[in-house]
Amino acid sequence: MVVSSRPFASFYSRHQVGIMFHKPVVSLLIVVALSLSRRVMAQTPIVAPSACPKGTGIAAPPQEDLASVQTATVDVPSHPFGVVYATQQEDTAFVAAGETLTVLDTSALTPTLKYQVPLSWSQTSYAAAGISITHDGRYILATVESDDSSAPSALILDAAKAASGGDGSVVGVLQGKPVAGKGAIEVTITSDDSFAFVSLEYGSSSNQGSIEVFQLSLNNDGSMEGTYVGYLPLGNAVVGTALSPNGETLYATSEGKVSGQPGGTVNVISVAILKTHPQKALTATFDAGCNPVRTIVSQDGSTVWVTARESNALFAFDATQLSANSTNTVIASIEVGTSPVGLTFVNNESRILVANSNRFNVPGATTGITVVDVAAALYGGQAVLGQVSTGLFPREFALSPDNNTVLVSDYGSNEVQAIDVNSLP
Ligand SMILES: *[C@@H]1O[C@H](CO)[C@@H](O)[C@H](O)[C@H]1NC(C)=O
Ligand SMILES: *[C@@H]1O[C@H](CO)[C@@H](O)[C@H](O)[C@H]1NC(C)=O
Ligand SMILES: *[C@@H]1O[C@H](CO)[C@@H](O)[C@H](O)[C@H]1NC(C)=O
Repeated sequence: MVVSSRPFASFYSRHQVGIMFHKPVVSLLIVVALSLSRRVMAQTPIVAPSACPKGTGIAAPPQEDLASVQTATVDVPSHPFGVVYATQQEDTAFVAAGETLTVLDTSALTPTLKYQVPLSWSQTSYAAAGISITHDGRYILATVESDDSSAPSALILDAAKAASGGDGSVVGVLQGKPVAGKGAIEVTITSDDSFAFVSLEYGSSSNQGSIEVFQLSLNNDGSMEGTYVGYLPLGNAVVGTALSPNGETLYATSEGKVSGQPGGTVNVISVAILKTHPQKALTATFDAGCNPVRTIVSQDGSTVWVTARESNALFAFDATQLSANSTNTVIASIEVGTSPVGLTFVNNESRILVANSNRFNVPGATTGITVVDVAAALYGGQAVLGQVSTGLFPREFALSPDNNTVLVSDYGSNEVQAIDVNSLP
């Protein structure tokens, strides 16, 4: 018995030694595999992920600090979200900052705070999120950030009154229906100022956000009104919206899918149908990485750019292929900084700025603005030119009417930062 148990014991211990011997080899293989996959990831983030980071995202590799870019900041009273330049008043920008529309003087690179216009309507104060200005420059639409599905989706402000700090700047509301959902984020206005499309992050059922549709009309007394038309339910957390330059297509991101499959989408929506039968307006839906949150369209309508927050990615889609519901739509996939949100073109669309929000404070990550060379992104070469430092949680951009300055809302540090476009690489 003793003898027969020895070989077993020695076999067992040899086996154990074997495991101990192989462990470092196995972990070495895992490390090599991980770093390989990370290197592949650094080159080409994927639009159809098999999994997405839960909640907080992951730190992107550091980028070259563009220390020579000129920037200046101004403190604002509350977390700044949407920002837009006036077009009828000189050197003026409007910022949604909590329950005020903050008015900035932008005559110098360093903006100065002029007025705080209260955002109240019918004795109720509202906090605003995204803001847009009508193409005639007369009205500002500010979405209402609220968990209450019976709150208005947006406030309508008279831009001239707001620019002079006047009371009574809020002249109306876009009042939706609770069934369409809640949590309005962005508002997009058609080029003839006749319709507004509001993204509602949380729609009428738990996995759906939506696009709410309003017809806009001017009253004889100069006030503006919005008539609720209906809504289009999409995937989870609908946020970023942008119109094609010809006005025929609305692109909208949703962070997650109704099916619960990993990844979010960009949705292609027919504007003509959206205006009359919103629920029938969806033309196609495409994978767009983990938590896609903002989108912009090139002036020639050919390219749709999307930030995918938890993929740390900027994707470019071919608009023609998107409309054809083709499967071959992705034409560029660029790794940017951590948790990218806002994006804007500058320098006649030769550059895109991406706001690396790091909104979940990933350890080791930085906030900033990645400068992307558009031609390199599309045709090959060094697409990422470096990162401009920002305050905390840079979120939305506005490009000045003369194209010389970009404002970015640093939501987490209660400041608006101006960037001299001509000092960018
Ligand atoms: C787009 O194509 C997919 C198949 O690739 C199909 O399942 C889907 O229904 C199409 N969408 C529309 C709106 O035609
Ligand atoms: C802007 O870019 C377009 C297309 O690349 C070009 O045709 C146009 O001349 C440029 N405009 C200016 C002002 O540089
Ligand atoms: C600003 O840039 C846009 C897009 O490149 C261009 O259409 C517009 O003419 C420019 N405006 C000025 C004042 O240069």
